[in-house]
Amino acid sequence: MIRLEHVTKIYGDTLAVDDLSLEVNEGEVCVLIGPSGCGKTSTLRMVNRLIEPTSGRILVNGKDIRQVRPERLRQSIGYAIQSVGLFPHLTVGANIATVPELLHWEKSRIARRVEELLELVGLDPKEYAQKYPSQLSGGEAQRIGVARALAADPPILLMDEPFGAVDPLTRERLQAQFSSIQQELKKTVILVTHDLDEAIRLADRIAVMSAGKLVQYDTPEAILSRPASKFVHDFVGADRALKRLSRISIQGFVHPSPSIGVNATLSEAMAALQSHRSAWVVDHQGQLLGWVDQTTLSAAASVREAIVAQDVTEISLSSSATLREALSRMLGQGFKSIPVVDENRRLIGEVTLSDVEAATAEAEA
Ligand SMILES: Nc1ncnc2c1ncn2[C@@H]1O[C@H](COP(=O)(O)OP(=O)(O)OP(=O)(O)O)[C@@H](O)[C@H]1O
Ligand SMILES: [Mg+2]
Repeated sequence: MIRLEHVTKIYGDTLAVDDLSLEVNEGEVCVLIGPSGCGKTSTLRMVNRLIEPTSGRILVNGKDIRQVRPERLRQSIGYAIQSVGLFPHLTVGANIATVPELLHWEKSRIARRVEELLELVGLDPKEYAQKYPSQLSGGEAQRIGVARALAADPPILLMDEPFGAVDPLTRERLQAQFSSIQQELKKTVILVTHDLDEAIRLADRIAVMSAGKLVQYDTPEAILSRPASKFVHDFVGADRALKRLSRISIQGFVHPSPSIGVNATLSEAMAALQSHRSAWVVDHQGQLLGWVDQTTLSAAASVREAIVAQDVTEISLSSSATLREALSRMLGQGFKSIPVVDENRRLIGEVTLSDVEAATAEAEA
């Protein structure tokens, strides 16, 4: 789909991109990552001909892009830049409509598209379409940037640190939203980031760059478990075992957990705790209420009274969570096991610290 062949970019006497060859398959997310100044933005800007390579060539759908007029090329390539780059004097709606306007879409079609895209990125069209960029938070502006890049439904998206300018929590939400949009739309994406966790989360393949060169191009799993050089090894860091956990779903690790109905008698509950130090407590519908252990039970008059009333949403995970999330819950709560619930908060089972350890050891081997 996108293919770079021996692409070099020299500015004056700066070698920004050095003999880079890279192929991105249709519907895949390629994440470009590497230290500041290693040539990521330059690489991206060559793909939509904002700048031209000094040598080498770039093919999109098998066609050398030098044979496509830049304006034409950019209609099939959405571009979201790091600084968001919304036009300050245009409303959010007009910003999103930029490319459809250029393409002379009908007014009603453009209006529908703007509405659809605002909904897609989770912003209420009624509230947001008429706002100006200065009235948006950083995270909202970035979402508008992504919406604008998607406006004409281009098959290709180039995104330069699209979630760079927001706090970690908002970034996580935007990443999750991007993932679900991408699952549905299956664009061919090149995304630039500084953030390795973001790369691991979003990439089908990660391209690690250093000083203009491609030093490794592989799946996140392979980059983490088999760094091709000392540079990549150091770049992914000492906690790569942990990072790998964020690629592993808890789904294969959930097992039945000791649980007690809230209406059980104390002696039934005590019996259930013979072989376990603690147990989850569920109501008659199987919804998680909390947990009890021998100490809280022995001091209480009923199971209900013995429940340690943690905020259940804070301790439980959904089955789409990763082992990394399970581990951070365990560390955050000081628990060796974390309950897993369905969308109705019914207890499905649990994941334990030994599961996480086993998965880490397996990945290590
Ligand atoms: N227009 C330009 N003229 C001269 N040198 C440039 C120009 N644009 C980029 N460079 C240089 O080329 C190199 C690569 O820059 P580029 O912007 O591609 O890096 P980057 O990987 O995107 O960095 P960052 O992570 O900081 O955004 C840098 O040394 C930069 O100084
Ligand atoms: Mg850059």
